[in-house]
Amino acid sequence: MSKLIQVKENGTPIYDIRIEHNYSALKEVFSSLHTSNHRICIVSDTTISHFYMEEVVDIAKDYASVVETFTLKPGEEYKNLESVYQLYEYLIASKFDRKDFLIALGGGVVGDLTGYVAATYLRGISFIQLPTTLLSMVDSSIGGKTGVDFQAYKNMIGAFKQPKAVYINTATLKTLDDRIYFSGFGEVTKYGYIQDTEFNTWIKEHIEGLCQRDLDILEYMIYRSCDNKRIVVEEDPKELGIRATLNFGHTLGHAIEKMMHFKLLHGECVSIGMVAAAYISYKHGYLSMADIEQMKDTLSRLHLPVSVQNLDEQELIEITKNDKKMEAGKIKFILLEEIGKSIIDSTVTTEEMLEGFRYIVNK
Ligand code: GLY
Repeated sequence: MSKLIQVKENGTPIYDIRIEHNYSALKEVFSSLHTSNHRICIVSDTTISHFYMEEVVDIAKDYASVVETFTLKPGEEYKNLESVYQLYEYLIASKFDRKDFLIALGGGVVGDLTGYVAATYLRGISFIQLPTTLLSMVDSSIGGKTGVDFQAYKNMIGAFKQPKAVYINTATLKTLDDRIYFSGFGEVTKYGYIQDTEFNTWIKEHIEGLCQRDLDILEYMIYRSCDNKRIVVEEDPKELGIRATLNFGHTLGHAIEKMMHFKLLHGECVSIGMVAAAYISYKHGYLSMADIEQMKDTLSRLHLPVSVQNLDEQELIEITKNDKKMEAGKIKFILLEEIGKSIIDSTVTTEEMLEGFRYIVNK
């Protein structure tokens, strides 16, 4: 079984998201992109490359003039301009030209960094996303946000650059470490909360299969998540409006990520941040406490944290002041009017944000 989602820009198809259980249909992607007379460089990290590089190289070599590989060290600390610089040097030394291709084989760090190099090398070359973590499958590989961290600032340098294709091999989820796997559900559950009540119910009904990584259940879950993201990015590719709703849970989530010195994973921080944002929504008179209890129950059953130990309020205020989601000095907070319906709210005060924060901090 497999699934296909077509992503459009102004009504014109720009790339397909293919969801498969293995890499065998990758040849069809290369064939449709006419890669044969061009070079391909597969970018990965040492963890992922060990599992899948050989297989992907084997397929690519029948559809390229030359296949090169470039392997990063794994982890957020290598998502920086130094790694970008090294990849530029490698591409120049390997004589990559504007018609050649990059492939990002890995999680969000590999995808964002490779996408940024694809956006900037020779003013832009083509790239394909082969996401191998749940989080990159359902979020970062779709919608064209690329970039790297700069000093202490996450995703501070970047560009919008759409991939030529996204190919998801769900079997790669089988080899994922439990914590990394479950952290992806921070983004999956988000779609249910912000815009898809039916999906929220479906998730609650399929938690066992999701925990057991049943491939058919995963396929539907990934399809539904990617389709939710497609709807948003087609309507608002550059985040001028509705795309900001994808940041539900991210304002406090990013702050917690930073305050915890990245000891908690992104999806884990989003989970905690969603609970805090839900509490602020309750204070605004939108959600009920029963909604919040349900949310905490679902997230906990998906092995996600819903609270954090003893963090400093003053530090939180300082960090949120530098948040990228600020507009004219006000934070664009994403609240839930009800489960499945989000709104962008620029009226959340520092005191209200602190109330949300106090709700998720264990003293
Ligand atoms: N990850 C949020 C977005 O792509 O807009």
